[in-house]
Amino acid sequence: MISLNVPSFVQHTKLIEWVTHIAQLTQPKKIQWCDGSETEYQDLIQLMIANGSMQALDPETHPNSYNVLSDPTDVARVEDRTFICSEKKEDAGTTNNWQAPDVMRTTLNGLFKGCMQGRTMYVVPFSMGPIGSHIAHIGIEITDSPYVVVSMRKMTRMGKAVYDVLKTAGTFIPCVHSVGMPLTNDIKDVAWPCNNEKYIVHYPESREIWSFGSGYGGNALLGKKCFALRIASVMGREQGWLAEHMLILGVTNPQGKKHYIAAAFPSACGKTNFAMLIPPKTYQGWKVETVGDDIAWIKPGQDGRLYAINPEAGFFGVAPGTNIKTNPNCMATLQEDVIYTNVAMTKTGQVWWEGLTKTAPEQLINWKGQPHQGTEKAAHPNSRFTVAATQCPSIDPDWNNPQGVPISAFIFGGRRADTIPLVSEAYDWVDGVYKAATMGSETTAAAAGQQGIVRRDPFAMLPFVGYNMADYFDHWLTIGQTTKIQAEANNLELPKIFNVNWFRRDEDGSFIWPGFGENMRVLEWIIARCEGTAKATDTAIGKVPRYQDMNWSGSEFSLSSFEKVTHQDQTQWKKELESHGVLFEKLGSRMPKTLLQHQAKLLKKFSQTEKI
Ligand code: OXD
Ligand code: MN
Repeated sequence: MISLNVPSFVQHTKLIEWVTHIAQLTQPKKIQWCDGSETEYQDLIQLMIANGSMQALDPETHPNSYNVLSDPTDVARVEDRTFICSEKKEDAGTTNNWQAPDVMRTTLNGLFKGCMQGRTMYVVPFSMGPIGSHIAHIGIEITDSPYVVVSMRKMTRMGKAVYDVLKTAGTFIPCVHSVGMPLTNDIKDVAWPCNNEKYIVHYPESREIWSFGSGYGGNALLGKKCFALRIASVMGREQGWLAEHMLILGVTNPQGKKHYIAAAFPSACGKTNFAMLIPPKTYQGWKVETVGDDIAWIKPGQDGRLYAINPEAGFFGVAPGTNIKTNPNCMATLQEDVIYTNVAMTKTGQVWWEGLTKTAPEQLINWKGQPHQGTEKAAHPNSRFTVAATQCPSIDPDWNNPQGVPISAFIFGGRRADTIPLVSEAYDWVDGVYKAATMGSETTAAAAGQQGIVRRDPFAMLPFVGYNMADYFDHWLTIGQTTKIQAEANNLELPKIFNVNWFRRDEDGSFIWPGFGENMRVLEWIIARCEGTAKATDTAIGKVPRYQDMNWSGSEFSLSSFEKVTHQDQTQWKKELESHGVLFEKLGSRMPKTLLQHQAKLLKKFSQTEKI
């Protein structure tokens, strides 16, 4: 029987029983109770360098930084292997994969049995959100991957202090992860172990996560998508708060007035760039600061405002396309202490990815560990950096505030070559929820499968809602109703809701809108709308700015280009509305009536007008 060696800082009987049970099932050679210390981190890094799974970069140019090359088949989230195992199928809804919990438990018991043989089992305590914050929640991840442990240390508040909050009986989300390949004598110590059979499983009722067969961040760092979105969305619905796929940024105007904005975009649609935006030169006195780049937990406050925290403590960002022009703050964040995954490297320990510079350096080794040649990508399109948020020069002074930051507006944006205008404002909360619910976006490399296909991605949460999507819409409507009452009692308004699209293309397929720092112009209009100082024109699909309603100082973006990115085409919109109908039909009988009535109103508007 394996020795448990429970350290004195772990005093939680149920937790110890659970770890014992998982150890009996998975049969590791050793158990390591992680404390989150620097020594522990460095030891794991040295272990991975010694066994060939991690390469150190040039310490002069990239101090304490490393690159890890994955198994070529384990590079993204696997949505078709991700399951919501609620007791009743209808509680998972039609947008999630479902299996009966007892059936899934039998399958997983078989797979997890002995799966850690020859490996160390790490017990990783972590807090999503500032430790001890009333908005934060705790998880414990058991994993056999040292890569997961070092990544969790960057992405969460990980370590001993979590046990001080848990004490002897505190609540935690149990998360079990295995790469799914025992280290037996006849299998060599491969650099990135994984299994062809993958299961990313959530039990919403018992609030457990089990992940088998993948080492990739979104499947294996269980605090992120599995806990902070899928399980937290279930908790939020029960407890009256929101767990969202949103960045959070703070904007301060030259008069010193600050607004916080939460913005949802699907994976790999520029959330990190938007969160770290640097305003154009002519925006003297304006400042944008970063609270988070991927996930927001939002709870109603007593004063009728919605308060958001970033439950994460680091950025797991997409490397390709990141450079000194597109995201200077990110490049500064990456100066040191970074774990890269699947980027290309030179023999002298420099990293490279498509878009970092115009041309690739000589003698580059690609993400598969082979000499880079021809037109193949040197870095994987979903190659990543993992880095602590504290290294970001634009980090917001309140990013770690346990009370969270008050939200003035929500933005929803997809990647759309046509149809959706640059920006529009919802008429009210219900209209905003409708807009978010019917969002569409082209698929990207962040998930396995075909790319560039427009799919409905409600609230940018299609792969992340841990329950029935129709119930999730209803939850948003309810939060709007209850918060409105509280807000009005305090002479406040609900946050406004906006829809944006940075990705319209012209006839040649080129992006029309310059994006990146120029998105500040849209942000300024949004903030001015919140303050009641900017004009907007009513259209069938929302309130929109005219060219003269936005600030173009220092910009060469012409009126005719503006017309292209804001054009609303009657035929395209009719098609768009049809596909809203297809989504609603798919979501079935639990679709909130309010949204169906809203859809009927929109359809009527369109049937009555020749032009929008
Ligand atoms: C991510 C994703 O990694 O959305 O943030 O896939
Ligand atoms: Mn994401």
